[in-house]
Amino acid sequence: MGSIVFYLPSDEHLARKVAEKLKLDLGQAIFRRFPDKEAFVQIGTEVKNKNVILFGGLNDPDEKFIPIVFFAETARRLGAKSIGLVAPYLGYLRQDKEFHPGEAVNSRIFASMLSSYIDWLVTIDPHLHRHHALSEVYTVKAEVLHAERLIAAWIKNNIDQPVLIGPDEESKQWVSKVAQLASAPYIVLEKIRHGDREVEISVPKVKEYKNHTPVLVDDIISTARTMIETVRHLDRAGMNPTICIGVHAIFVNGSYQELLQEKVAQVITCNTIQHESNMIDVSELIVEYLQHEGD
Ligand code: R5P
Repeated sequence: MGSIVFYLPSDEHLARKVAEKLKLDLGQAIFRRFPDKEAFVQIGTEVKNKNVILFGGLNDPDEKFIPIVFFAETARRLGAKSIGLVAPYLGYLRQDKEFHPGEAVNSRIFASMLSSYIDWLVTIDPHLHRHHALSEVYTVKAEVLHAERLIAAWIKNNIDQPVLIGPDEESKQWVSKVAQLASAPYIVLEKIRHGDREVEISVPKVKEYKNHTPVLVDDIISTARTMIETVRHLDRAGMNPTICIGVHAIFVNGSYQELLQEKVAQVITCNTIQHESNMIDVSELIVEYLQHEGD
């Protein structure tokens, strides 16, 4: 493939696995901050005429965007043939319209900025709601991989009599697919978000599933309010303790601990963002994609 893999410190866990499975060289790069917090980037491995693949998940995107840009521009100056970004989590997709007058439409601005520095990107289960495809906002090739088959396999192997629960209409796209692959029933609830941390969930009609194990599936767990409110409703409705599954473990400010204090049996996430709740390894999705791209 003539490819070489680099990674931001946050993405070493996946970069190493993927490079090892594909027998790709790992490049050396330094990503650090000057005392005044400005970014410093240094590429220490030859990239001339190589396809450079940078693993850099875009959770905490303000922190990571500049280092990614500095890396990409430097790799290009040093003669890299192409620069691709593996962003297992792709941020800035939830503010995908002007909800109130004067608000920035982050998804468009961010995609346009990122598209001008890289040649392609691949991500896993991006939050596509009002945009139906990344190509609506990204001008470079932007590929989407899905963790649903891995999540379904985990459910099949670990849970007796699951009933899958989607907390809101947006979640229907992945909950329905995971349910089908896991041969399980599913219910989608209604969520009203009143603010960043205020979430209201409709009372679920779950009577017929009292003997099942509720498995709440969502793409992102950030403040965990969506999960917490849903778990409380399921508990009040007399359901068994809930298993919470999220693709992307953002977990801001102690929200993981808050969620664990609720009536949950387990909290499980994919390793798109490294976190102690990671139980589902997505590296094979990236391996398959890069293998296929290299054909
Ligand atoms: C939004 O609609 C997403 O699918 C998630 O439900 C949401 O991002 C979760 O956020 P939080 O954990 O802050 O409730």
